[in-house]
This record gives sequence, structure tokens and C-alpha cells, in this order.
Amino acid sequence: MTDSLEQLRRCHFAVDLGAARTRVYVKGAGLVVDQPSVAAVNMRTGGLIAVGELAEQMTGRTPGYIRVVRPVSGGTVVDIDMAQRMLRQLLGERLRRTLRRKPRLRAAACTPHDADPLARRAAVETLVGLGAWRVELVDTLIAAAVGCGLPVQRPEATMIMVCGAAATQVAVLSLGSVVSAERIPVGGEVVDHAIVQYLRHAHELVLPSQSVRPLQLALSGTGLTPEGPARTEIHGRDVATGLARSVHVDTATVRNAVQAPLTAVLDGIGQVLRDCPPDLVADLADRGIMMVGGSALLPGFDHMLRAATGMPVHIAERPDVCAALGLGAMLEGRIEPVGLDLDSVST
Ligand SMILES: Nc1ncnc2c1ncn2[C@@H]1O[C@H](COP(=O)(O)OP(=O)(O)OP(=O)(O)O)[C@@H](O)[C@H]1O
Ligand SMILES: [Mg+2]
Repeated sequence: MTDSLEQLRRCHFAVDLGAARTRVYVKGAGLVVDQPSVAAVNMRTGGLIAVGELAEQMTGRTPGYIRVVRPVSGGTVVDIDMAQRMLRQLLGERLRRTLRRKPRLRAAACTPHDADPLARRAAVETLVGLGAWRVELVDTLIAAAVGCGLPVQRPEATMIMVCGAAATQVAVLSLGSVVSAERIPVGGEVVDHAIVQYLRHAHELVLPSQSVRPLQLALSGTGLTPEGPARTEIHGRDVATGLARSVHVDTATVRNAVQAPLTAVLDGIGQVLRDCPPDLVADLADRGIMMVGGSALLPGFDHMLRAATGMPVHIAERPDVCAALGLGAMLEGRIEPVGLDLDSVST
């Protein structure tokens, strides 16, 4: 185990390929890439037109010959070739040249706790295609826990919840490894979908996919909690006529639509606690749950968990980049070499 930490220390860069965003940490330089995992492809020539933010802005606005694709789905690389091309473009010529100069380029990546061998292989191959000679894989739960400063190596329980785009992972960690864990296939994407569906059914309004986030932001702060504004105006397109239309929506009903899918997360937390030895559960009552991942910022999510579990709930300082920063801390050697249960795959 300490071996793996030693191997990680020798890595030159680390990648967190998420369903929504791709983050790259380069040793000595820090977090250099944090962009959407999206590529726009010219279907006539096969060439890449744009990646990252720019490609995401093109979603739903392209002519027929341009396709906007997401090479990562559900935490797994589904299109290795496209993921490599996207990563190359995101890194840029200057960084690529710096990395190419390393004689034996080593890379690290994080993969979901329950990733199957095929998914792990896909992550490794993506980085090998980028020139890595050896690839270390780290459990996202461990990377995120390290990244948000949880004392993972101590003999006491900590509960972490990684709220990603495709899924939410809940786990209890102790002594540097995962004691019990659950993956619930509910994340930011499901919540966005619930809002779109609700507006379509209740108000016959088609909300452009890119308006979901501004809507959430309009409701943010205490917006999605009972103390927020009672009504808000939303612009979209009428289902029947296709014309632009705006409606006044009760925030309480949006809140209900969002919370319905999130209740599955509560079942996941219950399951993790049931699988966990009683001594560790006692620790958790004081320490509570640490939320990381982009969807931890979903307005009202933490309130809901607090109300339902009665446990203290904290949101990490930079929840969306915790996993990448955790990998970075391991690369830079800022982690004590006390048995962290890491995994490594060499090629
Ligand atoms: N301020 C915010 N409010 C609400 N939701 C947010 C906010 N910021 C990000 N999100 C949601 O968080 C999700 C992205 O989170 P994150 O960056 O952790 O995903 P990811 O690592 O790419 O996904 P995964 O780990 O599941 O593969 C998106 O679905 C997005 O809708
Ligand atoms: Mg992630």
C-alpha cells in the first residue's frame, strides 16, 4: 500500500475524467485544466472543432454536420479515442510538450469505487494514449477524502459523499480504506432532468438544457429551501406552439421535483450505515457527513440531508475539484505514507 503511494509520488500528472468535467493536475503546476468533458466534432471531416467550455456552449445549437459528444459517461470512458483527443486539446501544445519531455511519463487517474475491470482498463488506455508509460489508479472516494482534508488515515470513521454528475457515491472510511460504500445512480444530471420534466408537464414549457443551471442559480442561496422566494419567472418555449413564453413558477413545486430523485441518496446512506460496524457509526454521529463533488452545491441538498439524517452535514471548501486536488496532494508527496488503500495498474 505504501508502495502505491510511493508510485503516485513519482507520477507527473493526474487526471479526473468525470461525466461532466475533466480536471488535470500537473505536478509542480497545480490544477491546470477544469473544463466540461465535451467535444464538438465535424462529422464531414472527423476533425475536432472545439472542446471544453466552447464545445458545451454549442450543445443544441449546431448545424447537422457538427456533433457534440461526451466521451465519458457514468464515470467511465466510453470513447477512448475521443477522450484522448479531447484531453490533448485541453492540455494545449505547451503543456503537452512539457510532459513529452519526461523520459518515462507517469500518470494517475481516479476511478469510481465500484468501477469494473473494463472501466479501469479504459481509464488506463486513455492515459497510455497520451504517452504515459505507467498509470496508477486511485479510488475516487479516497482521492476526494484526501482532497477535502478528511483525516482518512486515522482509526476513526469519516463519512464522505461524492455527488457527481452521473452518480452519488457514499462511503465510510477508516484507516485509509473504504469500510462500506454504495453508489446511487442519481447525480446532477438526474436533477437537471427532473426540473426539465417538471416544467414540461406542469407548465407545458420546454426549458433549453442550458437554462437549467441559470434557473438553479436564480433559486440558489436559500432559493430551493423553504426560506427562499415563493415564485420566480422562467423563460422557455411553449410545447404546443413552439413560441417563446415565460411562466411564473412556485419555487416550492420546483423544490419537490428536485427532491424526489434525491431521496434515493437517503436510502444509500442508510445502507452504508447498516453495513458499518457499530463503533464506527458512533464516530459518525459527531463528525457527520462531508459532501464533495459539483452537485454538493445543489441549493438545499445539505439542508435536506441534515433534516433527514439528524447528522451534521458539511460541504467541502471546493467540492467540485476535491478529487483532483486529492490526487495532486498525493503526487506532491503531501500525504503521510500510512497505509492508504490505493490501487495501481502498470502497463
Ligand atoms: N453550483 C451548482 N449548483 C448545482 N449543481 C451544480 C453546481 N455546480 C455544479 N453542479 C452540478 O454538478 C455536476 C458536476 O459535478 P462534478 O464536477 O463533480 O461531476 P463529474 O466529476 O464530472 O461527474 P462524475 O464524478 O459523476 O463522473 C453537474 O451535474 C452540475 O449540474
Ligand atoms: Mg467526479
